[in-house]
Amino acid sequence: MSAVLRATDLHKSFRRGREEVHALRGVSIQVHPGEMVALLGRSGSGKTTLLNCLLGWERPDRGTVEVPGAADPAAAPWTAVAVVPQRFGLLGELSLADNVALAARLAGQLEPATAAGEVLDLLRLGHLAERAPDEVSLGEQQRTALARALVVRPAFLVADEPTARLDDELTAHVVSTLRDLHAATGTGVLLASHDPAVVASADRVVRLDDGLVVAG
Ligand SMILES: Nc1ncnc2c1ncn2[C@@H]1O[C@H](COP(=O)(O)OP(=O)(O)O)[C@@H](O)[C@H]1O
Ligand SMILES: [Mg+2]
Repeated sequence: MSAVLRATDLHKSFRRGREEVHALRGVSIQVHPGEMVALLGRSGSGKTTLLNCLLGWERPDRGTVEVPGAADPAAAPWTAVAVVPQRFGLLGELSLADNVALAARLAGQLEPATAAGEVLDLLRLGHLAERAPDEVSLGEQQRTALARALVVRPAFLVADEPTARLDDELTAHVVSTLRDLHAATGTGVLLASHDPAVVASADRVVRLDDGLVVAG
């Protein structure tokens, strides 16, 4: 089984009415343990489609995806590949603390509430822990989704524009938190982002243009 998160020669098209949209046209990417890779590209270049294929949320028309710990990416546990979706996916009926603790519990942690509290504090959300998602800002929801991913101590973290709702100061804090995390635990991080601060802190940048990886 692979210790690397890898996609090879992915192709994916969507049908929109009569039109065929080629979201991915032969994309290969790999992320090694302990590496932070920024996935860059303008809106519509295929970033989310690529991440969704890596997560098993979309099936590529062609190409292969390898994730650690599972034969099929759709079956990979969050401890292998955790995700911060572009639309967060928090459970509205649970507090921020319970959203994060639930992920910890499902990952088999013995003290899920304690673990959730620690990660929420790390992301400066401790004072909001008992609120529901719709009682906090979008930036706070976004960091809660990040906390939910980090609490399981994943081998890989895939995050779709995880700082898009944050100001510069919080973006810097999130980026340094991710750097500390992957230095401490060897988590491999793949971040789709336009943010210069995210790009500057990455070990490597992969640029997508119209469904293809381009140089630089
Ligand atoms: N479910 C879908 N149905 C139709 N078109 C889609 C779908 N998902 C993505 N696309 C199209 O595929 C292209 C790539 O989209 P996306 O991967 O979301 O790019 P990005 O995340 O870089 O903005 C865009 O042209 C988008 O409109
Ligand atoms: Mg996107």
